[in-house]
Amino acid sequence: MEQSNTASGFQDLAIIVTGAASGIGAAIVDRLQGAGANVVALDRMALSAPAALSIQMDVTSEDEWIAAVKQVSKQLGRIDGLVNCAGVIRMGAITDLPAEEFRLSMQVNVEGPFLAMKHVLPVMYNQACGSIVNISSTAGIAGAPGAAGYCASKGAIRMMSKAVALEAIANKSNVRINSVHPAMTETPMVKDIVRQLGGDDNIEEQMRALQPSGNFIPVEAVVDAILFLLSDASQFVNGTELIVDNGFTAQ
Ligand SMILES: NC(=O)c1ccc[n+]([C@@H]2O[C@H](COP(=O)([O-])OP(=O)(O)OC[C@H]3O[C@@H](n4cnc5c(N)ncnc54)[C@H](O)[C@@H]3O)[C@@H](O)[C@H]2O)c1
Repeated sequence: MEQSNTASGFQDLAIIVTGAASGIGAAIVDRLQGAGANVVALDRMALSAPAALSIQMDVTSEDEWIAAVKQVSKQLGRIDGLVNCAGVIRMGAITDLPAEEFRLSMQVNVEGPFLAMKHVLPVMYNQACGSIVNISSTAGIAGAPGAAGYCASKGAIRMMSKAVALEAIANKSNVRINSVHPAMTETPMVKDIVRQLGGDDNIEEQMRALQPSGNFIPVEAVVDAILFLLSDASQFVNGTELIVDNGFTAQ
């Protein structure tokens, strides 16, 4: 984001964050608003945190993306950053996983960011600057049993990020696209996984025990990585993945 040369790096920049009503997305909105950015908070759930603009929509709807990009361009005049954070997880062995649950993972976790990039990139290309951060997961790098749809979707967003980064470079656009890969992070998604696996208290402890540190990643550590990729501190970091897993994939 060429414009951002202030101390905080984000003053007055227009940054869209999807999945902004909960967990990692909500924490990014807080941090960016605090750093003076004009944040566009976007989620299918009601949005309550302060933001320059709040848009309640489904990231899988192309019509809604077209309308949202139009609205942001009209109200903020530009789009400097996009964080594709909205996501779902559907647990279950592949032999039991309903096909519609698999499709939902692909729609929200892959088609959502595809539509977002498809409609935001023309604005960024016009400005000749911008940074897009796609939230993948360690599940986009290493397999996780019982999460075939989630792993498939998070691997797909990792590779789509690389393909689009090369397109942006070929366009001489100064637009960068990267993916972030957190290990299990302290958000409501963890509770959702526990619920889907039967709700037993021990499940969360077993999930923590899979981490080398015995604990999940704090949300703010994931936000730090995302803000690095949004900022000019990562000017030549493009088409790559940033793993925030405290050693999980080193095992
Ligand atoms: N929490 C973790 O352990 C973890 C680890 C690695 C990666 N991730 C990824 O980080 C991202 C954020 O996850 P989180 O942990 O903050 O989860 P979360 O469940 O707290 O938040 C996800 C948000 O996405 C929104 N969302 C879901 N479907 C949507 C749709 N169709 N349209 C618009 N919004 C939609 C939800 O309403 C919710 O606000 C996700 O992509 C997730 O896969 C999470």
